[in-house]
Amino acid sequence: MQVKIVYASMTGNDEDMAEILEEDLQDAGFDVDSSDVSFTDASDYLNCDLCVFVTYTYGEGKMTDEIADFYEQLKTLDLTGKKFFVMGSGDKTYKEHYCENVFDFEKAFLAVGAEETVKPLTVENAPDDDDVDRIDAVAEQLADILNG
Ligand SMILES: Cc1cc2nc3c(=O)[nH]c(=O)nc-3n(C[C@H](O)[C@H](O)[C@H](O)COP(=O)(O)O)c2cc1C
Repeated sequence: MQVKIVYASMTGNDEDMAEILEEDLQDAGFDVDSSDVSFTDASDYLNCDLCVFVTYTYGEGKMTDEIADFYEQLKTLDLTGKKFFVMGSGDKTYKEHYCENVFDFEKAFLAVGAEETVKPLTVENAPDDDDVDRIDAVAEQLADILNG
C-alpha cells in the first residue's frame, strides 16, 4: 500500500505534523513518500492508495501561491478509487478562517471523487503532546482502513 503525503509549511508546524504521520504509517508497514508542496505535482496522487495533504492557512483563508497552484492541479484529476485524509495547523484567533485551507482541500478531494477516510484533524500552531497522540490515533485508524 502506497501513501503519498504532501505538506505546505512556512515555519515548520505542518512539516512536523507530516513527519509524525509519516513515521507512524511507516511503522505500520506502509510505503510512504512525503514531499513539500512546492516541489510536487498533484498528479503524484495518481500512483498511491492514500492521498494525504497537510497544510497551513495564512492570509485569512486566502491561499498562498504554492498552495493555489497545487489546488488547481488537484482539481483537474480523477481520484475515484483513492482514499484521502487532510490535516493542518492554524490559529484560532483567525476565527472563521481557522484552518480554512484544510477544509478547502477536503472539499477539493471530495469533488474529484476521492473517498474520505478520517475527518480533518486540526492543530493550533505547533503540535503539542496531545496533538501528537491525536495524530498517532489517526494513523491507527488509517492503517485499519487501508488494511481493510
Ligand atoms: C500573517 C499570518 C496569517 C495567518 N492566517 C491564518 C488564517 O487565516 N487561519 C489560520 O487558521 N491560521 C492563520 N495563521 C496561523 C498559521 O496558519 C499557523 O501559525 C500555522 O501553524 C503555520 O504553519 P507552518 O508552521 O506549517 O507554516 C496565520 C499566520 C500568520 C503569520
